[in-house]
Amino acid sequence: MAKNGSISNSVIKRLPRYYRFLGELLKQDIVRISSRELSVRMKLTASQIRQDLNCFGGFGQQGYGYNVEELHNEIGKILGVDKNFNTILIGAGNLGRAIATHINFESRGCKLIGIFDNNPEITGESVSGLEIIHTDKLEAFCKRNKPVVAILCIPKANTQAIADMLVKMGVKAFWNFSHYDLSIEYEGIAVENVHLGDSLLTLTYGANHL
Ligand code: NAI
Repeated sequence: MAKNGSISNSVIKRLPRYYRFLGELLKQDIVRISSRELSVRMKLTASQIRQDLNCFGGFGQQGYGYNVEELHNEIGKILGVDKNFNTILIGAGNLGRAIATHINFESRGCKLIGIFDNNPEITGESVSGLEIIHTDKLEAFCKRNKPVVAILCIPKANTQAIADMLVKMGVKAFWNFSHYDLSIEYEGIAVENVHLGDSLLTLTYGANHL
């Protein structure tokens, strides 16, 4: 299996989609698939698929194609879906609650263990089976539970201070929804900045160039 460091960013960005498609094939009891068949289903070129999947070595076989389960498992391992990373969410407003409620964390390598907010009026409310905890207790919680992943659903102005503290407490990865680019600040920390508005703009570009 290839190490993460040897795989280009653009391939990494495509891995979740391969993982999802292969998972759907598994559900349909499809045991093997050629790069041509996969390319038709995924609307990629067969050569792109071969190039991408060659990064993991030894999966495709001339005349056989790919073993769906094997490839799904290997991509899952590379993505870390078997890791069960302790995960906390900061900011239990509209967005934070939607994410806590609707994302299936466990099938994506994360275990949501704490939800925090600095508004005392909502402390103790239950979201997705967890009580919202006041951020006063965040540091002590981190010392005890050692979260690896933090999801930030707080306003831009508060993001840097919280992120600095979390990095000190050992958090290694941020799923960052606040409109603040954390990756500029930290080296050696994984940051995924999510901007739904950017996705909409990609769509409007498409609509604008039909
Ligand atoms: P909201 O106002 O409903 O919730 C924000 C929550 O964060 C509140 O409960 C507030 O008490 C809490 N909070 C504020 N500062 C905090 C701190 N320092 N520590 C802990 N909790 C803190 O807002 P909503 O709609 O949930 O959005 C949250 C943020 O996400 C906003 O800044 C918004 O701009 C952004 N957003 C980003 C999107 C994206 O695609 N990246 C999409 C939608 C919203």
